[in-house]
Amino acid sequence: MVPAEANFEFSWKEHEVTLDDGTQVTLRSPEIAISELAFGPLGDGAMIGARRSPPVFGLGLLDAIPQETIDELAARDKPDGIKGRVNYVWDPETQQTVPGRFGLKANHPSLREQIAVAFFNDIGLSSPLYPEQNCPEIQKACEEQMLFARPEITKRRLAGTEMYLRALSVPARRNVDDPQVMRGEELFDQARCSVCHVPELRTGDFETFPQAANQVIRPYTDLLLHDMGEGLADNRPDYVAGGRDWRTSPLWGIGLSKVVNSAHNFLHDGRARTLEEAILWHGGEAEVSRDSYASLDNADRDALIAFLESL
Ligand code: HEC
Repeated sequence: MVPAEANFEFSWKEHEVTLDDGTQVTLRSPEIAISELAFGPLGDGAMIGARRSPPVFGLGLLDAIPQETIDELAARDKPDGIKGRVNYVWDPETQQTVPGRFGLKANHPSLREQIAVAFFNDIGLSSPLYPEQNCPEIQKACEEQMLFARPEITKRRLAGTEMYLRALSVPARRNVDDPQVMRGEELFDQARCSVCHVPELRTGDFETFPQAANQVIRPYTDLLLHDMGEGLADNRPDYVAGGRDWRTSPLWGIGLSKVVNSAHNFLHDGRARTLEEAILWHGGEAEVSRDSYASLDNADRDALIAFLESL
């Protein structure tokens, strides 16, 4: 049997926040302890952080947004200290540095590379992009278990997975005419949420997957990196992205996460148990926006959440 690499203990630290009307909300952040390291101590400078697996629909449409659109969003003047930057990352396929688009820090150059990395790092399967085994030298048993032909994920399988993910469509919105939802949409704009979570974009010509070309889409993201403050920092730089930077999460389909995912957690490490908690963790460039939410009365807070749940 391949020995376990280590024992992980996951616990939550609680934080009380008070909204402007006196309402108390308890937030939580993860704490991770690693013990019983089977292969010796962690290397110097090892960085540890938790990750929630993000939703995987609509990726073909996000891929079809022209890079010029994203560059234009980055260059645009924005209010309240909001900036937004493109990540530049290494593409092992073209052997070039290119703009990043996928991943929680926009740290992957293409859907195919993101999928190959997930196969390799998350479940230890090699592919044409990462043909070696993901076994550190000290893990002899890992290498010995390699009975199958390499790579484990063939070119054809990788292409099939890519096509499947490209083609997963986005759920339709619900309750669009509900007055509470419409009020919430107005507040989403007033609180500047829409500066980062850009409601509407257009896809361009897209030969890779023509089905996604030239459409108006409503992803609620700018695909840019933003400094989200110390509270959300994982202190792990990734190419241009710093330790406090995250890519704006697309919000389309977020209202159905309860239906499709019993875990129902938000933000990069799943610390937020509700949409309200997710908003209250926003800091850094999004601090003014977060404070606008905290200043709303109860009815308006409910309206903004009802809008998010309609997405
Ligand atoms: C400065 C840009 C910015 C602004 C302004 C902003 N957000 Fe975000 N939002 C982000 C980023 C970046 C993340 C991802 C953070 C993370 O995962 O740690 C995010 C994550 C979220 C999430 C969690 C999504 C998920 O799938 O986990 C929700 C919900 C959300 N934002 C709603 C809002 C609302 C509502 C507002 C306005 C009150 C707002 N945001 C304002 C950048 C922004």
